[in-house]
This record gives sequence, C-alpha cells and structure tokens, in this order.
Amino acid sequence: MPAENQGAATDIQSILQEKRVFPPPRDFAASAHIKSLDEYRAMYDRSLEDPEAFWAEAARELHWYKPFTRVLEWKLPDARWFDGGLLNACHNCVDRQIEAGHGAEVAIIWEGEPIGAGGRPEIRRLTYDDLEYETAKLANVLDGLGVNRGEVVTIYMGMVPELVIAVLACARIGAPHSVIFGGFSATAIADRVTDAKSKVIITCDGAWRRGKIVSLKDNVDEAIHLASGVVSHTIVLKRCGNKIRMVEGRDHDWHEVMSQAEPDRDPTPMNAEDLLFILYTSGTTGKPKGIMHTTGGYSVYTYLTAKYIFDLHHGQNQVYWCTADVGWVTGHSYIIYGILPNRVPTFMYEGAPNHPEPDRFWDIIERHKVTQFYTAPTAIRAFMKWGEEHPGKHDLSSLRLLGTVGEPINPEAWMWYHRVIGGERCPIVDTWWQTETGGILITPLPGAIPTKPGSCTLPFFGIDAAVVDEQGVEKPANTGGLLAIRKPWPGMLRGVYGDRNRFIDAYFKRIKGMYFPADGARRDEDGYYWIMGRVDDVINVAGHRLGTMEVESALVSHTSVAEAAVVGMPHEIKGQGLAAFVTLKTGQTATEDLRTELINHVAREIGHIAKPDQLRFTDALPKTRSGKIMRRLLREIAEGHAPRGDTTTLEDFSVLAKLRENEES
Ligand code: WT7
Repeated sequence: MPAENQGAATDIQSILQEKRVFPPPRDFAASAHIKSLDEYRAMYDRSLEDPEAFWAEAARELHWYKPFTRVLEWKLPDARWFDGGLLNACHNCVDRQIEAGHGAEVAIIWEGEPIGAGGRPEIRRLTYDDLEYETAKLANVLDGLGVNRGEVVTIYMGMVPELVIAVLACARIGAPHSVIFGGFSATAIADRVTDAKSKVIITCDGAWRRGKIVSLKDNVDEAIHLASGVVSHTIVLKRCGNKIRMVEGRDHDWHEVMSQAEPDRDPTPMNAEDLLFILYTSGTTGKPKGIMHTTGGYSVYTYLTAKYIFDLHHGQNQVYWCTADVGWVTGHSYIIYGILPNRVPTFMYEGAPNHPEPDRFWDIIERHKVTQFYTAPTAIRAFMKWGEEHPGKHDLSSLRLLGTVGEPINPEAWMWYHRVIGGERCPIVDTWWQTETGGILITPLPGAIPTKPGSCTLPFFGIDAAVVDEQGVEKPANTGGLLAIRKPWPGMLRGVYGDRNRFIDAYFKRIKGMYFPADGARRDEDGYYWIMGRVDDVINVAGHRLGTMEVESALVSHTSVAEAAVVGMPHEIKGQGLAAFVTLKTGQTATEDLRTELINHVAREIGHIAKPDQLRFTDALPKTRSGKIMRRLLREIAEGHAPRGDTTTLEDFSVLAKLRENEES
C-alpha cells in the first residue's frame, strides 16, 4: 500500500527495501525502439545537453503546416514550445495517416459492455477514414452551433467511440475541449462549465456501467440549470435508450445533426501554443483547477513518450489497450493523442472489469489479441482479490508489455501482475506523471531499463528530475525529499485556466526555480526513483485525485454540518480511502440516517468517487492553538491507531479522547 506521506516530506524515511531487479527480456529488447541501458543513457544525456535539438527532431516526426522557427522560450514559469509552427492535433491523429495511404487501417477497436443475444458484445472498428469522416461532420455541426476557434466545448460522455470523435472534432476546429469524467455529478459539471464559460456540452443519454445505466443527460440538465445562462446547446448521443428530456432548440440529437452535416472540413492550422484542452483536476483548495495544455508541445510529448514507453510499432499487428477513462488525463494522452499518431490501433472498452464476470478483461485480451496493456494498481489489487482463476481461464500469450499508472504500485501487486498477467515474460512500465505534466516523465523504457518492483525507475528523455529539499538542494541517495523537475518539457502545463496566481503558487513557489509536482520521493543508489505519495492535501483514491478540501466543502455545504475534516487512510483495494470527521450544528443529532445522507450528499456535490469510506461524528475537531486542524492525528485515528507522536499543541485534549471513544463504541 502507498504510505501516507503528507506532512514533513523532507524527513521522509523510506521503509521499503525492494532488492529484486528484472532486466528487460532479451527478445523484447532485440526488437524494441531503445534496446539497451547504454542506448538509453546516451540518448538521455544528449536530450539534456541539447534539449532543443532533441525536441526539434522529435517534433519533425509529426506533421506541421508551417515549420516552427523557435524550439523553446523559457521564462519561468512560462514555457513556449515550437513557436512559429502551425499544426493540428486531429490532423496528426487522423488525416496524416490517410495522406500517407493508411486510411483503411483500423484506428480504434471498441467493445461495448452489454453482452448481447448470442452471448456476444458489440464490437466496432473505426478506420482513419471513418475518423476523418465523423470528426469532419461533427466539426461542421459545432461550427453550425456557433462554436468559434478558442471557445471551450464540454464533453461528458461514456466510453464510446463518439467520445474520441468529439475530442478530435474539437481539436479539428481549434475549440479547446474540457472532458468531464462521467462519474462526476451535476454540481461538478456546473462548476466546470461556468469556469470555462462553455456554451456547448456534448453528452450521451446514458452510459453502461456494470449492467446499469448511468443517466448522464439528467446530470447535464441539472448542471445547465445550476450554471444558469452559461450553456446554450447540447448534442446528445443516444447510447442506452434510457428516457431523457430533450429541450427544443437547445438539445440536439447526435444522429440527426450528424446525418445532415457535410462530411468535409479541413483541420484548422493552429499555433503551437494555442490551447488544445483544459482538464480539471483537484488541488488543495475547494475548487478544481483547469489544467491547460497547448497544441504543439503536448502533441509532440505524448507521441514520443507513447512510442518509446509502450514500444509502439505499426505494421506489426499490435493492439494497444489503456483501461483508463478518457475523462482522465491518462485517457487523453494514452488512448488518443499519443497513440493515434503512432498508427497502432487503440482499443477501448466501455464498461466495468467485472461485467458480466470478473474475467472480462482477460477475455478481451484473448479475443482481441491485445499486445500492450496499461492499467492502474488499484485495478490490479482488485484482480488479485478476485482470484487467479479468472485470468487463468484465458490465453494471454498475445501480451508483450504491461503498464501501470496513477499511484505507487506495491511490490506484491507488481509481482502478481508480472507472474499472472505477464507470464513472467512481459516488461512492466510503472509510469509516473500527472495531469499537469501532460505525459509520462519517469518510467522504464521496456527494452532498455531493468525494473525494480515499486520503482518508476528513471526519467524520460529531456526530463531533468531530482529529489531536493525545500531549498532546492539535491538530497543524498536513499533519503526522502521533494520531487522536482528542473527544466521545462514540451508536455508541461501552460497554466491554470483563469487563475495565474494559482498556477504560480501551486507549482513554482515551494521550490525556487523548479516545477514542484507535490510528490515526495527518494532516489536509490542506482538513481532509480521511488515515489512516496503526495505531500499536499490531495489524496489518491483508486488512482483518482481528490482534494480533501473539496470533500470538506461538500460536507459543510449540508445544512446540518458545522465543520468537517477529511483525511486519507489505507485501503486494501483503492490504495487510499477517505475518512471524514464531522461536527454538527447545534440542535442536530448524529444518526445512522444522517451519516448515510451526508455520504450521499458528497456524491451529489462531487460524484460517487468522492464518497467517504468512513464518516465519524465528533463534538469538535482536534486543533492546534492557532486553529489548524491536526490532520496527522485524524489520520492515525482513521487508521485505527492510538495517536502517536506529539500532541502537546492540541487545544483541547478531551476532543481526542472523544474521537477515540467513538471509534471504540
Ligand atoms: C498523481 C497524479 C498520471 C495519470 C493518472 C493520475 C500519483 C501517478 C504514479 C506512479 C506513483 C503515481 C502521483 C501524482 N501517481 N502515477 N506511477 N507511481 N505515483 O493523474 O490525477 O494528475 O494524479 O498520481 O502522486 O502526483 P493525476
């Protein structure tokens, strides 16, 4: 399990002592893009000595309408990459493949969740030609609704091919997209469309999840009401056939508008630094931040990282599958933008891993002959719990590479993945990155870098990573510190939408002159990175980032709540869960019903992913004399320990005793 490392990061002592080393399998290395550690090191050194030459060369593997005239301009915290260049991200994913004569090749393989009559799921294959036809039409539909270049379009859909079409259609006309994960609530959508001033939402009637329908359109209706006056149009794809309300003049049926749309629409040549998308992610305040990524740098970075890290080779019958939802950055970068330009089919699955049975993923891998499989540690821990018999029923010999992302992977889960899924023959890439980094920064290269279970190993080309103290001074080997990135890279965020100060404060203030990702880490004697988790009030629940402040704000927005504190606690499957401590307003009584009501209230305010795993009522919260909530104590209580360490700054000792009593009762 990832340890709780919030607090004094520079004093982190790692107790993890993992000694196993797995060299890249010889036959894998022989055919890989990067074939040895020496080759990696030579290329890495070159990328740091002359980053501009390195990235210019990489950028030229993509299509530019007009070549860039300057590779990098860096005035901390602002990076500009590939200035003067014109390109289009949709063109690089789609049109470029057609122009090179590959239009009839499969770009996306999609499988729906429901198992239909005859025991078969619905499967769709879309070629680059199909993608061009559909994105061009949708681009024209968006034009028709008055969406201009630079105006944000919100996308709130299930995992259907039309979600990718929607993303790419926005890119085609230079309208930045803001994809909202289908698990978020109406309030969360309303906050985001308001922040982005987004006039158009592309959505579905519903989404399939574990045999049930999640009614997305109902949430959109409520969000439009809450964000009064912001949204003027929706486009609604009918996927599940659930009953929905369509407002005349506002809501448009996807199939209807698409059947009337012209199928020709050239991609708009965009400036390299034009906004490609915003993606909201949690931070340390109650308000999510809109992370901004631009067209040139992000396209180049995701393309190149995907190529080397997943070892993508077109024309070799590879089928690459990333199990993330497009609603998260992993889906943006490594289902769509990094994969399609590499011309390897990207596989997409609509639903839950255990529907109808816990072997669904393994069944998919066998039937579609998946070669690269990228998932999250939390999923792996669930698979372990469900049992080896499920993968055991299937032929997984098509797999040649495995990947993980989202949180530190515990060595036990790593070993299980290696043995049971990888058949001890597949390299595992444990990829460290963030919404803000756009793409993977620290990772094994599968044919070159020996792996150690639990370590994300070494930095990618061009990434100048370090473990430092608060002053930015490098820590000695095997001592915990703050992870920092000392030089800009093309995929880095360009800002927080509408909030310049937050951009600077969150990422460039704590360590002078460097990008601070808010993770603690240590480097071992071989230079390998071991990520120790967040050092801010952000918690990684099942690989999804949640701000404790956001959940606290949701709780106190309930009429009966006076104060709330939320902390992380270890969770067998999710890695970390949420524990909430709540004090009620005078006159309110703590009951089981109220507990349930509050948990559901959080789901309504944010989404089901934010539901606390524990919720305790308390008369008061433990605070220091200056009024700061003592989260460390709460964490210890949530873990079921008696609080250790220093409690002398506690304002009211009786509070602590009461919290513990409630625990025991
Ligand atoms: C945070 C970023 C990157 C896409 C998914 C999450 C944690 C991510 C790893 C890893 C250890 C990891 C970090 C990071 N994290 N990957 N391989 N090993 N920790 O994106 O929601 O922006 O969260 O996830 O704590 O800061 P995100």
